[in-house]
Amino acid sequence: MSKIEYSVDSEVAKKIHDLLQPTLVELIDIALTGKQLHWTIIGQRFKDVHEHLDEIIDSVRVHSDDIAEYITTVGQIPDGTAGTVAKGRPFEDVPIESIDVEDVLNYTAQMLKTASQNIRGRIDAADIDPVGQDHLIQTAATLDKHLWMISASR
Ligand SMILES: [Fe+2]
Repeated sequence: MSKIEYSVDSEVAKKIHDLLQPTLVELIDIALTGKQLHWTIIGQRFKDVHEHLDEIIDSVRVHSDDIAEYITTVGQIPDGTAGTVAKGRPFEDVPIESIDVEDVLNYTAQMLKTASQNIRGRIDAADIDPVGQDHLIQTAATLDKHLWMISASR
């Protein structure tokens, strides 16, 4: 069996896992809920918001993959399974029906804002590992950029 080498001390790795894992859950849920909204949106400016949701989903998936792989890189196990995401997601459920553009923008803005604020709350504690901390910072920057664009579309 391969003997994997880690540059991060195992105590630090456990702590950084605990900060990245809830971030992973939030990102996976933004991608899932974002697709639901992408499929059920109706109303004026449908196409712009429908397509912007896919841009958000694509960028969030890049961060979730980077974060999950970083958790593995430091010797911990990421959990992106549906059951864990369902238990850990901090967002409101969206209705399973057609949703007007304005409501889609509101749900999306709320998800992005909640996730960004939660991630910002983890950044200081992550200074034990600047590389893991950087994943949080870069992810918050992406979410904030989308929050700005989504809010400005309302
Ligand atoms: Fe699509």
